[in-house]
Amino acid sequence: MKIFVYHTPELVPTQSLPDCAVVIDVLRATSTIATALHNGAAGIRAFADLEELQQTAASFALGTCLKAGERGGKGVPGFEMGNSPFEYTPERVTGKRILMSTTNGTRALQAVQKTTVVITAAFINLGVVRNFLKQEEFQTVWLVGSGWEGSYSLEDTGCAGAVAWELGEPGNDETVAACALYGQWQGDLLGLLKQASHGQRLLGLGCLEDLKYCADAGRLNVLPRQNDEGYLVGTYL
Ligand code: MLT
Repeated sequence: MKIFVYHTPELVPTQSLPDCAVVIDVLRATSTIATALHNGAAGIRAFADLEELQQTAASFALGTCLKAGERGGKGVPGFEMGNSPFEYTPERVTGKRILMSTTNGTRALQAVQKTTVVITAAFINLGVVRNFLKQEEFQTVWLVGSGWEGSYSLEDTGCAGAVAWELGEPGNDETVAACALYGQWQGDLLGLLKQASHGQRLLGLGCLEDLKYCADAGRLNVLPRQNDEGYLVGTYL
């Protein structure tokens, strides 16, 4: 298995597709997606665009879907849900379809949605992602960080390194660098998140508990997996 890391969706090649794409947005979209599915959400549809999300929501029967939105780390006015994993309790999400748009994470999902197998990873579901990749033995795997508005983000590349760690052959230099980054921080993931610029943005918004939660490696065994373009459901190995 050859593993290619791309720090942002903008860096993903446009002329080819891998066997499997793993989308990563540790702070916080893919941590929240794993939590929502673990807590019973029926599925999550990702939208890059808020307007398209609103139009789709209008076609659902009342009470069957939840609008989840985040811009700049804050919730979107008029939406039921923001992007903190703590909002996605079983009481609020069980059986619901979640229509989600975040600053970067949902754009990364859209960038690879034509790939046959798309899953999402965060530190909180690291173990199940690694086990899935070991079990499937794909030829090529892309690990796609969401970054922040087109720029590199420390926490996504650190998580890419955690997924790639001793798993396959590096396909590009970014994979080697991501593993080195994870090697340096693996004993202090909360420290990594606090150091990251988006971690600091979230700390400024009073979200320390979110960082602690997102740094808690392997706490969930749910594997979010795309079963229709742009629609993720919870699967278990
Ligand atoms: C994103 O998509 O950029 C993030 O998930 C932002 C956030 O922390 O809510």
